Amino acid sequence: MNRPRELWMTRIGFVFAAAGSAIGLGNLWRFPYIAGTYGGGAFVLIYLLAVIAIGLPIMVAELLIGRSAQLSPVGAFTRLGKNKWWKIVGWLGVASGFVILSYYCVVGGWIIDYIVKSSLNLFHGRSPAEIEGMFDILLKNPLLLVFYHALFLLLTTYIVSRGISMGIERWNNILIPVLFGLLLLLTINSLFSPGAREGIKFLFHPDFSKITPAAILEAMGQAFFSLSLGMGAMITYGSYLDRDTNLMNSAAEVCVLDTIVALMGGMIIFPVVFSYGLAPSAGPGLFFKTLPVAFSFLPGGRLVATLFFILLVFAAVTSAISLLEVVVSYFIDERKWGRKKAAFLVGFAIFLFGVPSALSSNLLKDVTLLKGMNIFSSLDFLATNYMLTIGGLLIALFCGWFLSRKTMEEMTINGNNLFLYRIWRFVIRYITPLAVLLVLLQKTGIIAI
Ligand code: PFF
Repeated sequence: MNRPRELWMTRIGFVFAAAGSAIGLGNLWRFPYIAGTYGGGAFVLIYLLAVIAIGLPIMVAELLIGRSAQLSPVGAFTRLGKNKWWKIVGWLGVASGFVILSYYCVVGGWIIDYIVKSSLNLFHGRSPAEIEGMFDILLKNPLLLVFYHALFLLLTTYIVSRGISMGIERWNNILIPVLFGLLLLLTINSLFSPGAREGIKFLFHPDFSKITPAAILEAMGQAFFSLSLGMGAMITYGSYLDRDTNLMNSAAEVCVLDTIVALMGGMIIFPVVFSYGLAPSAGPGLFFKTLPVAFSFLPGGRLVATLFFILLVFAAVTSAISLLEVVVSYFIDERKWGRKKAAFLVGFAIFLFGVPSALSSNLLKDVTLLKGMNIFSSLDFLATNYMLTIGGLLIALFCGWFLSRKTMEEMTINGNNLFLYRIWRFVIRYITPLAVLLVLLQKTGIIAI
């Protein structure tokens, strides 16, 4: 277990790799539609608070745990925990990775379909209503959906089977800046659309009457999902870090990058929504129903759209890799499987588990699990709002109360500001766990504030 680990070549390479895990479908697909469903500005405000008070401290904690243990999550909790029960947090993370990836790949598949559509110029000259209809038609095609789901998963599995550090760093160094450039272009484009004013107001003007326990839970869950927290993905990334890296700065940079991309996603989508009278609360299809409309404003829209969806698939794959790696590294480290065997067997199991999600809008559309939601939405709701948040709560408690003093103080040896360290330590011990716990208890009706 003590084999030397390959380390990130540069600190910025690490920041981009961690940002590669964080930036994905969560920012551009999930954030806008959840914000649209839960009232826009008020949701965004709680989201930002959740990123600062919960997300950032937990990201530092995960990186620290990973770097000290130099192991994947289950092994890290076993080594640092001194108590066998902490292993459960690692297992919970493995389960979360498994469940999330099963429907994440379905959405990844939708994006592949949009690469095909935009490269064939199928959006050109269509009305917003027709573009909206094209998404609904896709959802009615079970075979195609399962095919794309498999394709996306195969791509992810193949990369993980070859070893995570191979090339991820290089890819992200190119991918993230180009994606940023394109998003900037699209944001500016949207800001010139007729509904820009209303869209921006919807996104940034909080209507406090919309702050409900459900919205607070969703905002917190979204912060965990978007920042890749609560299941050990960042523990794995931290395990490839050397002692000289300043964790606080790196985590802050990842959080800022991730949040900018999410806000850009909102700024691209909502002006289009209001320009054409679409519904902000359209649900998981929001991104797919609005974005092609935005491209229709652009000169050279076909090329830009195709490039954009290709980049987005890569951004989604770099996130999916980190989900799969948590599960695969468990089988490698704990069960002593070879990497190839682990990647392909786990990948296949996730494929099977994800098929009902792919079929939840057609063959299985009448099957509901939680609160009348279909299989896809039920799994997303459960994994994001409960599995990741409970995982995050346990990680915060572990780091704040059970990690040895010596490990905690590693935070101060590499140029970290002592004052910042003390604030972080206080927040991770008291504020973060209490905040997560209160939201969970309030939502489940155990307490009422
Ligand atoms: N953060 C990714 C996204 O926003 O698309 C999704 C994700 C990756 C969630 C890794 C959790 C995780 F551990």
